[in-house]
Amino acid sequence: MLCTNTTEKECLEKGLFGDREYRLPYLKSIKKGDIGFLLNLSRDQLLGIFVAESEARLNIDPNAWGGGFPAQVKVKLIGQLQRVDKASEKLEKIIELREIQRDPFPYKVPLRNTYGPDITDKVISLFTLTDNVREYFKIPPPEEIGLYPEYKLEDVAGLEDVKRFIYQRIIAPFEDEETAYKLGLRIGGGLLLFGPPGTGKTLVAMAIANHIEAKFIEISPSVIIGYPGEAERRIENIFASLDKEPRAVVFLDEAEWVLCKREDQTSSVMQRITPVLLAQLSRIFRQKRKPIIVIAATNKPEMIDPAFLRPGRFDRIFYVGLPDKDARAKIIERCLKNREHELSEDDISEIAGKLEGYSGADIENIIEEAAFIAFEERNARPAKITKNDIMNAVEKIPKSVKPEEEEQIKEWAKERGIKI
Ligand SMILES: Nc1ncnc2c1ncn2[C@@H]1O[C@H](COP(=O)(O)OP(=O)(O)OP(=O)(O)O)[C@@H](O)[C@H]1O
Ligand SMILES: [Mg+2]
Repeated sequence: MLCTNTTEKECLEKGLFGDREYRLPYLKSIKKGDIGFLLNLSRDQLLGIFVAESEARLNIDPNAWGGGFPAQVKVKLIGQLQRVDKASEKLEKIIELREIQRDPFPYKVPLRNTYGPDITDKVISLFTLTDNVREYFKIPPPEEIGLYPEYKLEDVAGLEDVKRFIYQRIIAPFEDEETAYKLGLRIGGGLLLFGPPGTGKTLVAMAIANHIEAKFIEISPSVIIGYPGEAERRIENIFASLDKEPRAVVFLDEAEWVLCKREDQTSSVMQRITPVLLAQLSRIFRQKRKPIIVIAATNKPEMIDPAFLRPGRFDRIFYVGLPDKDARAKIIERCLKNREHELSEDDISEIAGKLEGYSGADIENIIEEAAFIAFEERNARPAKITKNDIMNAVEKIPKSVKPEEEEQIKEWAKERGIKI
């Protein structure tokens, strides 16, 4: 519904939207429970989210607007009154507007009076979603992801330098917040983990969350895009919920999609969502005393806009590389831990030596495959994984990281002077 400075007051005080003519088709289509917005044309502000409490009727309040708008709908404000500035600029990204010439200045108004739920959703996303609004719409709370709830940094094989640095610089200040604050140390903030796929980036992020007993929230394109039309609301919802958390780890997976240069953004969904996400991230980075860690992970660091890597943003950068021989042995051991097998320590070490270039994820696949080979032969021999089964599995499972891919990532680090 449209209003001006002159007509706004009655809309808000009386909870009414009005128009001149009762028979206007859009008014007739309004049902109880429909969501509406009030657009103040003089100030170019969207004023709030309203719900219709009645259908359009004649003269619900005959005195409203001096009798000028007798066709009326009773409305209720959901949450607080908000004044979203530059409304036409924002609405223009969602719906077509037309300009009408009026003194003293032209107005931009929506082409139509009513829109479907998709558009309504997008307009809602222009508002700040307070608790009562959220409760009204019953937006589900963000999922907590606890895939490896007990995972600690010690369980991550290899990556000794990264783990030590993370422990000293990221985790330790959380364990003695008081001293850290006294010394003006930053608690939380942004870090970037980069490296080939399947090398433990997600694992490191989860381990950090477990160490500091923080809520772990994952935001990746697949999670976001899985909620069509709701994405912006969902992001704001997630970040609003963080305000109540004492500590949190926000994990930005496939970060190259969000943190890429604007002109390189090829996904239209991400073009829409990225500004919302970035606004929320800079809000977090500005809150110096808010113990939130934002961890971005990528295997395409060259796609990331260097502007995001400046001090105060994702300024601690770690290379999470392919496991060395010892790390590979540790991963094999961990994968075999709860399975029947016949391998000695020497066998494991020997296999680890042969798996140069395989990622942690590849090694997990190999052991899974070896288990399957043993299972298939269960009638012929004891159901135990043998060294031979693993070697047969290795034949079947190729390395998932191409040397060129690893090289390209390392090259990026070298150019930026990042230690790997
Ligand atoms: N260094 C490691 N130590 C222990 N396990 C590992 C390690 N690297 C990988 N893994 C195992 O491999 C699997 C994949 O790891 P993870 O999901 O953390 O990789 P990622 O680097 O996030 O990969 P992607 O880039 O594909 O998201 C996990 O299940 C994990 O158990
Ligand atoms: Mg991952």
